[in-house]
Amino acid sequence: MNYYSTQSTTKEGILTIGGIDVATLKQQYGTPLYIMDEAHIREQCNWFKTGFTHNRVSTEVIYASKAFLTLAMSRLVHEEGLSLDVVSGGELYTAIKAGYPAQNIYFHGNNKSLTELQEALEVNVGTIIIDNPHEFNTLKSLLTANQSVNIMLRLNPGIEAHTHEYIATTKNDSKFGLSIFDETTMDLIQAIASTPQLHFKGFHSHIGSQIFEESSFTAHAEAILKYVKAVKDTLGITVEAINLGGGFGVRYTADDQPIDNQAFLHRMLEVISATSDTLGITLPHVMIEPGRAIVANAGITLYEVGTTKQVYSQKRYVFVDGSMADHLRTSLYQANYHGVLANRMHEEASHDYTVTGKACESGDIIIRNVKLPHPKTHDLLAVFSTGAYHYSMASNYNRLTRPPVIFVKDGTSRLVVRGETYADLIRYDVDDAQ
Ligand code: LLP
Repeated sequence: MNYYSTQSTTKEGILTIGGIDVATLKQQYGTPLYIMDEAHIREQCNWFKTGFTHNRVSTEVIYASKAFLTLAMSRLVHEEGLSLDVVSGGELYTAIKAGYPAQNIYFHGNNKSLTELQEALEVNVGTIIIDNPHEFNTLKSLLTANQSVNIMLRLNPGIEAHTHEYIATTKNDSKFGLSIFDETTMDLIQAIASTPQLHFKGFHSHIGSQIFEESSFTAHAEAILKYVKAVKDTLGITVEAINLGGGFGVRYTADDQPIDNQAFLHRMLEVISATSDTLGITLPHVMIEPGRAIVANAGITLYEVGTTKQVYSQKRYVFVDGSMADHLRTSLYQANYHGVLANRMHEEASHDYTVTGKACESGDIIIRNVKLPHPKTHDLLAVFSTGAYHYSMASNYNRLTRPPVIFVKDGTSRLVVRGETYADLIRYDVDDAQ
């Protein structure tokens, strides 16, 4: 199974990505190494942009930068014509430093600080998504009489999406947004809409991540539209736009069956168009906010094998030079991954291994179970689909240095984040011996 568009294997059995074999990349950049296939990312941007269209509905695709953000990625997203979702002052700063236009930025977050809101206003961010009444009051207190900003309100429609508990966001006890079942939500909408400096555009909602069922997305859209109708009937306010969030699932292993046809995106818009007609509401501008589906399958992490160990229980481990610090999703969400011995692609993958790293923790698992040829010291082990929520969730646990990130394309590679050094690790330590 090919994970990314430019995957192939040399006749010597070495995995290649973006036209370069990984042995060459290892020599140039070392391991562990985050490799991103630039062409694949661009294809995905384009896939959403061309697929999420409908002759009656005005649409917009927003990249959820929490999945993977660097200066280079901000620029790529701009070149591909996608808007940008940021969720912190740090993501906003990165995008602005990259020259990404502030007007196309959507600023999310359930607990934006006063400083973050100030920063957003200073750069003239396009839209702020308000999560709660406190945030509304803070924002109001910051605005001068002639300042204005577009506002959306994050709603919780109480839809149960079938995904890991930690990445489901609209269950009724979720911390995000305001419930459509809570009567005071209407009060906040009224207050926003009657604040002269705030231009109330509509609603945002995101049901969760790594979702495979089309019905979850359509049920979500219908629930939001019904609320749009309720707002019109109760408050007389016409909602101009709805942002239905991200959550489009991807393939990590052969067991995953993502909805990978563009027809699905069109069908979603068809449902929105028909439901709006049935409800008698003005068809809103519709946005989606994919993160994972843009970058996950574009990434692989390359490791070098240290050794193998068959423990007393007979379980076989292969030790690699990374860890849960650069690959958190297996320990955090029990996520499954596929991996290969990237320098021995022609050999039969016949033995079960658990891929683990260097962290001082039993839960430091990178792949729980994968078939490999018997690995040897210095073999290269590639883990697929690590482009989303890997670099962005990496830590320095055990004072491990974070790996570099490179983009590969058409046989060339470029460094987009340099690897950390030991000196980087103590950079913020206050050295009181000096
Ligand atoms: N929009 C909002 C408001 C979100 O909260 C998220 C993800 C997205 C869009 C993008 O969702 P995506 O298309 O990537 O599924 N760290 C977890 C995922 C957390 C997602 C949080 N919000 C993971 O590694 O699975």
